[in-house]
Parts: sequence; C-alpha cells; structure tokens
Amino acid sequence: MSLFEKFEKTAALYNGLSEMGKNPFAVVMEEVLGPTRALIKGRETVLAGTHNYLGQTFEPKAIAAAKRALDEEGTGTTGSRFANGTFAGHKSLERALADFLGMKYCVVFSTGFVANLGAIAGLLDPAEDVVLIDADCHACIYDGCQLSGAETIRFRHNDPESLDKRLGRLDPKYKGKLVCIEGMYSMYGDIAPVKEFVEVAHRHGAYLLVDEAHSFGVYGEKGRGVAEAEGVMDKIDFYSGTFSKALAAIGGFVASNHPQAEYLRFSSRPYKFTASPSPATIASAHAALDNIAATPALRAKLWDNANRLHAALTQYGLRLAAPPAPVISVLLPTKEEAFAAWNFLIDQGVYVNMAIPPGTPGKESLLRLAVSSAHTNDDIDRLVAAYGAMAEAFPSARVAYAS
Ligand SMILES: Cc1ncc(COP(=O)(O)O)c(C=O)c1O
Repeated sequence: MSLFEKFEKTAALYNGLSEMGKNPFAVVMEEVLGPTRALIKGRETVLAGTHNYLGQTFEPKAIAAAKRALDEEGTGTTGSRFANGTFAGHKSLERALADFLGMKYCVVFSTGFVANLGAIAGLLDPAEDVVLIDADCHACIYDGCQLSGAETIRFRHNDPESLDKRLGRLDPKYKGKLVCIEGMYSMYGDIAPVKEFVEVAHRHGAYLLVDEAHSFGVYGEKGRGVAEAEGVMDKIDFYSGTFSKALAAIGGFVASNHPQAEYLRFSSRPYKFTASPSPATIASAHAALDNIAATPALRAKLWDNANRLHAALTQYGLRLAAPPAPVISVLLPTKEEAFAAWNFLIDQGVYVNMAIPPGTPGKESLLRLAVSSAHTNDDIDRLVAAYGAMAEAFPSARVAYAS
C-alpha cells in the first residue's frame, strides 16, 4: 500500500485538472493530419507545441527512406548498439552527423535522453571527477549526473561568472571536471552565452558539454546550433543532440573531436544495455539530416514564422520569457491561470504546451509555443488570432498586469 501513497498528491492534481477542463497532460492526437495539424477531441487543431522545428515529420524523402529500411532490414534491431544492434545505417548516420557538425567522432544512442545519460555517466568517475551544471538543465542532464555518482554542483542559469566562481573554489582533489549547458533552453527559448562558457571552462581545465537538443538545425549559418552561431564549434568538447526535434524521429547522439569519445561505447551503460534505434528510424533521421543540410530555406522560414509570432504576441502585450526564438513562452502567475488559458487556446483550436512549477525555471507557469517551418500562413494567422483573444481574456498574461 505505502508504495502508492506518494501518488495521491499527483493524482489529486491530475484529476482536479480533468474536472476543471481539458487536461493538458492527457492530450490524444486522434488523427494526425499533417506536420502542423491534428484532430484533438474531434476538432481540427493547429499544433504549436510539437518541436517539429523544421517540419520533417512528413518529409517525403524521409518517409521513403524509412519504408525502404523497413522492407529491407525489418522492424527492429533486437539488440543494443554494443551487441547485435549496430547496422550499416547506424554507422553511416554517425559519419553524416560528425560531418554535418564538422566534428571527428559521433556516437548514436537510442534517444536524446539516453545520449546525455550515457555521455555524462560514461565520462565521469564517481571517485575522482566533478560535474558542474547550469541550474536550468534538462532532467536527463540531472539524471546523468546522478547516474554517474560524481559530485554535482549547480551554477546560476546562463551565468558564466557563477561558473567561474564555483570552478575557482573547487577542491584540487578532483581530477576530471565536466561542465554541462544547453544551447537553447526549451522552457523559455533563451540561449546560452556558449562562447563565454567555453572560455571559463577551459581556463579552469574543465571540459564542456553542450546539449543542442533544441538548437540543432535551428541556429547557426549551417544549422549546427548555438555553438556555431557563437563561432565556437571547434572548441566544444562534447556536443549532444536528439533526433526527436529538427530531425523528427527518435534517437540521440554525442559528437566530439576527442578520439576518446569512441570509448563511450564501452564505458556507457545507457549505450550498452538498451536496444538501438530501428532501421526505419535511423533511415528517416538520416534522410531528414540530408534534407535540412541541403535546404537552408527551411531554417529561414522557421525564423520568419518565429519573428512574426513573437512580434504579434509582443504587440498584444503578452509577457514573453525571451527574445524571438523558435520557442515562445508566455508567463502566467499561477498554474490555475495557465490551465484556464491553455483551455482557452485549445477551445480556439490551438495546441501549445503548458508547464507548471517545479517543471519551470521560475515560480511562474507558462504556455510554450514551439514554432515550425511547416506552419503555413493560415496556421500563423490562427495562432495570432487565438493569442490575441487570449490576451484580452487573461489580463494576468499581459506585461502591464505583471509589472
Ligand atoms: C534539452 C533536452 N535534452 C534532451 C532531451 C531528450 O531528448 P529525447 O526526446 O530524444 O529523449 C530533451 C527533450 O525534450 C531536451 O529538451
């Protein structure tokens, strides 16, 4: 019995939400109509909470490649990368990712979550290493630190000075030091000062891991991420990413110029003890990678859409968490208001993500809009109209109210 007692609070919140309206944590896409549309509760809805940044879920070349792999290689690998789960496709995708990023080595994992778990726990020795992480890092970075068993120290979000102080105060007993940050943070859509972090980490003899899960394909001249935009791609020690956003599949990877990164295949339990991505998944991710590399117009369209939406929401006076980015979050003071505003939007035929503390960086709750290059002008018009009506109906979402 006591095993389940801890669920009571969560169940009360969850069931309470369902009684008050539609539950943002129980949405079912009843029918997928395209990269930005689905039927939800029987209604055609514009999807603006899916991280399909470059609209690759229905890319014909990716679908054809996946079908071919399914026919030729079957439904699954039935084994881990370390044993029988490495096919030619996994190796050629590793090569293609390394080439795209201009890095020498790349290791593909089963998901982005697992890639960070695997990299962090695979690199650190609990007896002699230390890891320093940005306070707003994703759960998988926290979990990777915990799995590693190494001493973990948090520094203030996006604050290289805070990192500098903590590195400066470290006990000299630590042999290896790893710093973890992200490129674009997914809750607010704010970006890290990666160049400054590189300087601070390296000055203290620490290695830097940048998780570009949300910024891969989206930032930088070639779409290599925030590190590219800041001109420091060649200075990143470990670059982690996912196939689940710009590449619209499932899987993750860690790239590096350090030849020793290849040994993650031996040291990393999340690499060795879980099944590898299926041939169809690998084939679609590879085709999507080729496509986004060859089509910079996708990135340009994404930014057009993001800028247009950010400008409209700013004009409505909505309280936005960050400057224009492919994630645009509106802050609301309480979870009840966020819940009501989310329901308001879904009733207008617009799906976004809702996040509440402790899943958000601050005390506020938020509605997160993830922009896609596949959003049509009609999608954007519907989003703008729905947010305009929401700004009218929820004064607490507006800057004037908040300040
Ligand atoms: C920053 C960050 N890293 C890693 C992940 C995990 O990626 P995946 O969905 O491939 O497990 C996410 C997923 O949302 C993320 O936001």
